[in-house]
Formats: sequence, C-alpha cells, structure tokens
Amino acid sequence: MSTEPVLDVRELRASYGATPILQGVDLQVGKGEIVALIGRNGVGKTTTMRCLVGQLRATAGSVRLLGRDIATLSSDARARRGIGYVPQGREVFPRMTVAENLLVGELIGGPKGVKQPELVYQYFPRLAERRNQLAGTMSGGEQQQLAIGRALVGNPALMLLDEPSEGIQPSIVQLICEVLRTIRRDLGTTILFVEQNMDTILDVAERAYVMEKGRVVGRIGAGELDADTVRRHLMI
Ligand SMILES: Nc1ncnc2c1ncn2[C@@H]1O[C@H](COP(=O)(O)OP(=O)(O)OP(=O)(O)O)[C@@H](O)[C@H]1O
Ligand SMILES: [Mg+2]
Repeated sequence: MSTEPVLDVRELRASYGATPILQGVDLQVGKGEIVALIGRNGVGKTTTMRCLVGQLRATAGSVRLLGRDIATLSSDARARRGIGYVPQGREVFPRMTVAENLLVGELIGGPKGVKQPELVYQYFPRLAERRNQLAGTMSGGEQQQLAIGRALVGNPALMLLDEPSEGIQPSIVQLICEVLRTIRRDLGTTILFVEQNMDTILDVAERAYVMEKGRVVGRIGAGELDADTVRRHLMI
C-alpha cells in the first residue's frame, strides 16, 4: 500500500452489554484491494462489520475511512462518506420492489455515479427481469444480488459484505464472485468481505485476515492464499 489505506482499523474494541466481544481488531485495506476476513463461527466477524458501519458503537480504537476518523459518526453519515454494506442475512426491504430497494440505496449512499441502477441490472440481469417484484418474495440468491445492488447504487468507495455466499446455490455464488471482481476492476471499489466458504475466499480475495476470539490473529498475504493455508488457519 503506497498511499493511505481506504480503511484503517486500529485496536477496535466493542461489547454487547457488559460482555466484551472485540478485543483489539487491527486491519487495513488499500485502494482497490479485495480482502477477506475469515474465522470460525462466533469469533466476532459480524460484530466487526457492525462497528465499521456504525450499527454498534466501539468502546475503544479508531476507524479511519480515506484518512478521516469515522468512529463516532452515525451509520447514515458513514454511508454518505462512502461505505456500502451488505449485511449477513441480506436484510433487503421485503415489502418494497427491487427498483424501490435500489432507490433507497441511492438515497442513503454517497455522491452519485452515473447510471447506477442500470449498472446493477447489467451485472444482475435477474434483477432487471424482476424489478417490479416485491423483494420479500424472491429467492435467497436473488435477495443477495439485490442487497449487493443496493450497496452498489450508493457508489461506495468501500464495500463491506458479510458472508455473501451463505445459504446460496453454487451458480449464484459464482455470479456474485464474478460481479465482485468486476466491480473492483471497472469501478475501482475497495472490498472487505467476511467469508467462510473456501471457494469464495480463494476465488475473490487477494489476501485475508484471520479472526479468533475478538482479535485478528493472522494475516494471509498475497501469494500465500491457498486452500491449505486457509484450512490451517480455520482448523477445518
Ligand atoms: N446482539 C447481540 N447481543 C449479545 N451478544 C451477541 C450479539 N450478537 C452477537 N453476540 C455474540 O458476540 C459473539 C460474536 O458474534 P458475531 O456475530 O460477531 O460472530 P461471527 O464471527 O459473525 O459468527 P458467524 O460466523 O456465526 O456469523 C458471539 O459470542 C455472539 O454470541
Ligand atoms: Mg457473522
């Protein structure tokens, strides 16, 4: 990373009530990188994401986006500064149509790019066919495409995705992997994604951070990211 990282997280701590969960998370993602955050169930991956997007207030540490500390900003303000979020379990607005979900994404996002909904429909033709369908009536894979589209229309500098392949059929997972690589290549978007699916990790990520018990305990560098290394770190 020659210039300042897009995302710079230092010593991040967070709790649910009195229970400490994050105990000092450190990670950096440079411009245009695609980085995976991996770790077994319950180690704090989603909690880390929630702290980064502002759904959970950190108790200590810093979160810098494009050089500015955002740790005290609301999630709306962070979205306007350029964070797009695809939460675990997708959370599209079920009673809105596909097109309406994308409109909400545009409204809460950062400064507008051009033709963003059209771009999403181009990446995910299934959404174009279903633009007037209520999101809650779509399959899990379609909802995941919509959740990614909704983040993308906000024209994010940084996309955060929490287990984008979870519970989704392999052909759609493949499409999602392809789109993530395309977004990075064509739009220069920086991507940090939580993942446990080996194929997705190897297909998309350039390097990875490994979490255990609320901390980053390992870094898998570019060139070291292979199945054996991931298996060793995840003990699977
Ligand atoms: N809302 C909550 N209130 C209290 N404890 C919580 C809450 N959400 C998560 N936790 C606890 O925090 C810890 C970390 O959870 P988190 O969801 O961040 O893990 P994760 O790494 O994303 O796991 P998974 O791979 O299953 O998604 C777990 O022990 C979990 O039980
Ligand atoms: Mg999780």
